[in-house]
Parts: sequence; structure tokens; C-alpha cells
Amino acid sequence: MMHLINKRVLLGVTGGIAAYKSAEIVRRLQDAGADVRVVMTKGAQEFITALTMQALSGNPVHTDLLDPQAEAAMGHIELSRWADVVLVAPASANFMSKLATGDGSDLLSTVCLATQSKIVLAPAMNQGMWRNASTQENLKTLLERDIKILGPASGGQACGDVGPGRMLEPDDIATQVASLFEQDAFAGLKVVITAGPTREAIDPVRYISNHSSGKMGYAIAEAAAEAGAKTVLVSGPVQLSCPARVDRQDVVSALQMYEAVSKEISDADIFIGAAAVADFRPVEEASEKIKKGASDTMTLNMTKNPDIIAMVAQREDKPFTVGFAAETQNVLEYGRKKLEAKKLDMVIANDVSDQSIGFNSDDNAVTLIDKEANENLSVRSKSQLARDIIQVIAKKYKSKYHA
Ligand code: PMT
Repeated sequence: MMHLINKRVLLGVTGGIAAYKSAEIVRRLQDAGADVRVVMTKGAQEFITALTMQALSGNPVHTDLLDPQAEAAMGHIELSRWADVVLVAPASANFMSKLATGDGSDLLSTVCLATQSKIVLAPAMNQGMWRNASTQENLKTLLERDIKILGPASGGQACGDVGPGRMLEPDDIATQVASLFEQDAFAGLKVVITAGPTREAIDPVRYISNHSSGKMGYAIAEAAAEAGAKTVLVSGPVQLSCPARVDRQDVVSALQMYEAVSKEISDADIFIGAAAVADFRPVEEASEKIKKGASDTMTLNMTKNPDIIAMVAQREDKPFTVGFAAETQNVLEYGRKKLEAKKLDMVIANDVSDQSIGFNSDDNAVTLIDKEANENLSVRSKSQLARDIIQVIAKKYKSKYHA
């Protein structure tokens, strides 16, 4: 069964008679669990109204690049980051040409230029236009750029012609979009991931913690499961639901996280430490609520928590071990130091001084650091970033163990 649970699909609709079918595409994507937003070109609005698409998608429809109000709410850059996939259906010959030449003269083409997510086109046009040398040249360019093309189908056309150029049926399009999220890069592997903060108790009502929301680690767990891994997610206290096909084990403190990871790690192939584990905990947890007392100050004695990822990396049968480095300065330098000090295979360094990425945001930007090089993954949604990270880890894992 296809599923797009938690997936954000930006549906671009361009001008063509097949635009009436895009209403049905919204339905099919939603049936599979996707959150759908719609961008319509001027031409598309001649065939189907924005109101119809708004009523079906349950979200405002985006039509203008230069509308200050729309840009203030969710502009082209936000839309391009929001999307896990940009699906243009129907994609006209004109739109394919714009995309191939890097034209950014309207909202949909700018979103496509800006996005780091996968772009999928379902072309629909007259058979002569499809066969035309310019369209075929554009098609070749788009395929070379890793843009996915669905169809077109062949058959009778609205204009009376018969031949290739019909848009695929909505069911088929939704199924093929869902299949994009299913890969086998981690098939047969067990991946253990930590996520979220830990809480270190001071007394029965107080604790020390941090701002981690768990979003990054959960996105990685979801991407690992989609890539076919048996996925164990050891999670600190967060407000997120467990991704499909993931075995979540809830913990509160760093010591509990250490215990849970220790139990799961012996047969793991890959470990990814995305949790923001407290480095210290109070030496003692008071059994009763600590009273304010007369003093203006309070001293808390802290002791170091065990380093979970260092424990994993020190094992003789160590899995491929990936740590995060949350830094506020000298991000790359400190990240590389962590790689060496903790004997990791890879460090994913993020700058947590930037409020728009890192802790508790929907987006992140990271640098992947390993023995050989640094690789920048610029700002994108945490779910897209997680999928990109999983692909890089899969490649590195294979070259380490199957070289
Ligand atoms: O959860 P979000 O709101 O989505 O935010 C994501 C994030 C910023 C928390 C995430 O991207 C991130 O950077 N996680 C690691 C945070 C961190 O604690 O980094 P660190 O540099 O202090 O630790 C380095 C590595 O050692 C991390 O992999 C950490 O999980 C691990 N560690 C640290 C201490 C400890 N006692 N045990 C550990 O395993």
C-alpha cells in the first residue's frame, strides 16, 4: 500500500486541459497521508479555479511571485523548503522549457529553481508538441538534472489526435510519488538512532535539559526506515509521534539513554547520535522537593554523564558510527576535533547559534565531516536533509565494508 504519511507535497499546476485532473491528484495524495499545498500558474487558472484547489487541499493556493501579502505568509523560498517533493502535474511544454532554461519568471518556476527537494513532472500536451525536437531536447536536459518524469501516456487526446502526451492517471502519479520515498539503500541493515534531549533530575519536580525538539533525529529515523533499515529510535522526551516502521524506545535521562543504546548496539550496523545528551547530571537527585531556604544562591554539584557515542565507537565490533556536533562557533574545526576524539566515522556539524536552523526549527543546514573531506548540505527541511544524509551514509558505509 502506498503511503505518504508526514510527507509534504507541493503540487504545481500549469496550463493545460489535464489541469482538471490535478484536483483528483490532491485527493489521491491526501488519501496516502500527504500534506498538500498547491501552486498554480496563470495558465492553470484558466482551466481550474484556485478556489477548487484550495477547498480540496485545505490550504491557501499560491499563485503570485510578486504578491507582498502571499510572500509575507509563505514566500517562494519557504515553499521551496517546505516541500519534501515538488510535483508538477500537468507539466506543459512551456513549463518544461522554462525549467530547462532556468527561467524564474513566475512563482512555480522560482520554487523549482530554489528547492533542494526532488522535482517530479507529469507532462501533458499534444502529441506533436511532445515529439517536437525542442521539447525532446528539454526533456533530455531535465533528465540529466535528475528531474523525474512520469509518463506521458499514449492514446486519444482532447484535441482529437492520438499519440504520446496524455498525463498519467492521478492514481498512477500518486503511487509513483510515494515510491520515491521508498529506497533500499539500508536494506538488511539495523540502524540505532538517538534523538531529542535528555532530562537530568534535580529533585522530583525539577530537571536540567536543553532545547532539542527531536525533529532532526526523528527525520533521520523516518528516512532510515524508508531506506529499508530495521530502525531503533532511542528517544528523549519530545512531542513527536513515532515514524512508521520505527521501533521507538522512550528514555528520560542520559543514563537511561546509555542503557537503552547498550542493549541495542551489539547487532547494529549503523549508529547515528542525533540526541542532545546532557554532558552533566546532578550528583544526587533529592528525594523531596528542594526548599527555597534563606540563602540567595544555590549550589548544584554535577557529575559527568557517560559519553554514549564514544562507548559505541570504542566497541571492538563497532558499527559505522555517526555523531552530530552542535556548535555555536568554529563549527567545522570543532566538528573535526569530535570526529577524531570520539573515533567516529562521520560527524554532522550544525551551527546552533542560528535560530532558523538547528534546535527546534523545521530546517537545518549541516556539513558532513569525515576523514577525507567536508561536504556541505545547504539549508532545507529536516526531512529532506535526513534523506540526503542517509544516502551519503549508505555510500560511505558500503565503501567501508564492501570496498
Ligand atoms: O532535536 P532538534 O530540535 O531537531 O535539534 C537538532 C540538534 C541540534 C539537537 C541536532 O542536530 C544535533 O546537533 N544533535 C547533537 C547535539 C549535541 O549534543 O551535540 P554535542 O556536540 O554536544 O555532542 C556530540 C555528539 O556526541 C552527538 O552525537 C551527541 O549525541 C553525542 N553525545 C554527547 C554527549 C553524551 N554524553 N553522549 C553522546 O552520545
